[in-house]
Amino acid sequence: MQNLLITGGAGFIGSNFVRLMLETHPDYHLTVFDKLTYAGNLDNLRDVAGHPHYAFVHGDIGDATLVEETLRSRQIDTIVNFAAETHVDRSIEEPGSFIMTDVYGTYVLLEATRKLGLERMLQVSTDEVYGTVPEGSSTEQDNYAPRSPYSASKAGGELMCHAYFETFHTPVVITRGSNNYGPFQYPEKLIPLFITNLLDGKPVPVYGDGLNVRDWIYVLDHCSGIAKVLHDGILGEAYNVGGGQEKPNIEITHLLLALTERGPDMITYVADRPGHDRRYSLDTSKLRSLGWAPAHSFEDAMRETVQWYRDNRWWWEKIKSGAYSEYYQRMYGQREVLNQS
Ligand code: NAD
Ligand code: TYD
Repeated sequence: MQNLLITGGAGFIGSNFVRLMLETHPDYHLTVFDKLTYAGNLDNLRDVAGHPHYAFVHGDIGDATLVEETLRSRQIDTIVNFAAETHVDRSIEEPGSFIMTDVYGTYVLLEATRKLGLERMLQVSTDEVYGTVPEGSSTEQDNYAPRSPYSASKAGGELMCHAYFETFHTPVVITRGSNNYGPFQYPEKLIPLFITNLLDGKPVPVYGDGLNVRDWIYVLDHCSGIAKVLHDGILGEAYNVGGGQEKPNIEITHLLLALTERGPDMITYVADRPGHDRRYSLDTSKLRSLGWAPAHSFEDAMRETVQWYRDNRWWWEKIKSGAYSEYYQRMYGQREVLNQS
């Protein structure tokens, strides 16, 4: 393993992974392959732009010709697939692009891995494929029960991975990460949306009763879990990568209010997301048995994350002033207000 294609590497987790790999594996050569959708942003990779072991290719993972050409010309032996449409609310508005990238795009990468005889492909997936988890924690043996167009597309991508492994012995491994937070996260997701709104003195829209639970993980812990599976995971298997920090959204909201020195009057309860999964929870013993554990405490990493958005207004103000403002209006402008806190 030496020449890695990092698809979706200009997004939130992919760009953090690139930085981590350049630090921890200085012998690797990384090629980021990214469509630069609304969520892809070369600002996320600004600090590595001149690195001798980093290159960028602008492309769509659904474009089989360009994918193959890139694999050949860059002599790629390994693919790490972060490329995806990722936001549940957008998948409710428009599922088509999710199916094209998260299912069809994954198939294109699997087919190229098979055809060119690559060493390994890692498919970055999500705990959302298990669906809502009323009690206990999901293990890798649990059934798929996706409930949103996003999670159904991610489950579809995973199923193609299993099919390619069983049918063609394509060397693929899967990770299922829990909810990430950290630097460079597009401010449509709960934590960066709320931090940036609060820093600007704007209200934060809590869906429904605010009691939906997510299992939070700091992005660099997720990335170190992906690296562990990339190197030591058994082919054909899936590994949960969770932070074990299960919190209702309202608790996250109060923590962010405290860290930004704002009061509870900033909370607006708004109409719930349709089909909103109540709870996710991951059992991570399988990955831990390979010697992985999260290295960051929730409290410290949340404090550092808020500080990062405070210090890097250049990064998010640009985003929030562009096409994002139309999205925000569409998503939140007409949304029923349940009650002002
Ligand atoms: P993101 O939305 O920030 O980034 C996605 C990246 O993929 C962007 O750079 C985008 O331009 C690129 N992309 C989209 N479609 C593409 C295509 N057709 N071809 C090439 N590039 C394309 O997403 P993220 O939060 O960094 O998530 C990365 C991966 O991790 C996704 O597969 C997601 O499902 C998974 N995941 C995310 C989380 C989370 O909490 N964010 C948790 C678990 C798993
Ligand atoms: P999100 O960051 O969109 O991640 P996911 O839906 O993939 O878990 O949302 C995290 C939680 O926060 C989820 O329960 C929905 C909730 N949420 C809000 O309450 N308000 C918001 O404006 C957003 C974006 C999310």
